Amino acid sequence: MTDSQTIVIDVGKYSVKAGLSGDASKLSSPEAYRAVELLELQNAAYLPEGEFSREQLETLYANIFKSLDISPSGQTVVLSEPLSISNRQRELVTQLMFETYNVTSMFSHLDACLALYGTGRASGIVVDVGCNTTRAIPIYDGYPIQTAAKETPVGGEDITELVLRLLTNANPTLNTITVDIARTVKERLALCPATPLDMSQTAHTERTFTLPDDTVLTVKSAHAEAGEALFTPSRVNGLGKNIIGIDDLVHAAYMAAPSDYRSELVKSISICGGGSMIKDIPDRLEAEVLARIPHPDTCILCPPDRGEAVWLGGSILASLKSFSQVALTKRDYDEVGPSIVHRKN
Ligand SMILES: Nc1ncnc2c1ncn2[C@@H]1O[C@H](COP(=O)(O)OP(=O)(O)OP(=O)(O)O)[C@@H](O)[C@H]1O
Ligand SMILES: [Mg+2]
Repeated sequence: MTDSQTIVIDVGKYSVKAGLSGDASKLSSPEAYRAVELLELQNAAYLPEGEFSREQLETLYANIFKSLDISPSGQTVVLSEPLSISNRQRELVTQLMFETYNVTSMFSHLDACLALYGTGRASGIVVDVGCNTTRAIPIYDGYPIQTAAKETPVGGEDITELVLRLLTNANPTLNTITVDIARTVKERLALCPATPLDMSQTAHTERTFTLPDDTVLTVKSAHAEAGEALFTPSRVNGLGKNIIGIDDLVHAAYMAAPSDYRSELVKSISICGGGSMIKDIPDRLEAEVLARIPHPDTCILCPPDRGEAVWLGGSILASLKSFSQVALTKRDYDEVGPSIVHRKN
């Protein structure tokens, strides 16, 4: 680690992305963090309000620093935050970083903002397909418009569940199809139909998948239904009709934003999150959003590395000259205490 490198950490409900800024190639893989103890910790760690206790946070970060093989003492840390984070939780994390881990400076910021900065923009609508939710968050000049943010309870792991159900139905004699197999099938084969999937005409797209032990799974149309589920969750997932698709979610966030901001927001509709990695989602999303927001400047940004967009945005931010002006230092912390984290930056 060189003096100018920063530890960048994006804790998600499904995976933790952590590594040194500027070194995306060494980004610890989600699998590394899906070690049983951390997965159990994450699952158990969500308190009723979606928060971690102090002990859980300590274990979480200790695990992360250990697997990075880096002592945080004397380092700078960039952390992502979900929109729903409470002031209490922000203060607790800040306190831990400075008092338990002795970092010299830190910057904790909304995950969607970090993802947008990574595209070089300060205004836009960030659409993040995460673990069990999809969020559309308008951001104007670096500030999230909280009242216009929209969310649906459909994310990558709901699609894994859907694929598991479809694979189980299509292979009634196999009782060894696990969630991990379903996720692998999804990550390798899933695609998004260019137009709404016609369930009666999918036979020609039927696929199979061969497991390492040479068992051949009948995938049927599960790969196409996986992509479709992001657009029509109610039809494909059996969810209530009120659960809207990702295209309508973008439109709802756009309409909820102040009207004088909208022409700026449409220029950078930026999709990210592991769940958005399904093949052909960018094309379908672009077509559907253009149909709903026929503004001449409407532009969908779908970078190929969008699965790690939050981490990459944090890494880019840490490398900017202006970063030292926004980061909190130990001195700031000692003067004000944990509430320094709410300082506007
Ligand atoms: N290549 C891929 N194709 C399809 N799905 C993928 C791919 N890569 C990752 N995913 C899916 O992305 C999902 C996890 O997304 P992500 O890593 O963004 O979640 P997270 O950041 O941990 O969650 P959250 O932000 O909601 O807390 C998983 O369901 C995983 O299967
Ligand atoms: Mg995430």
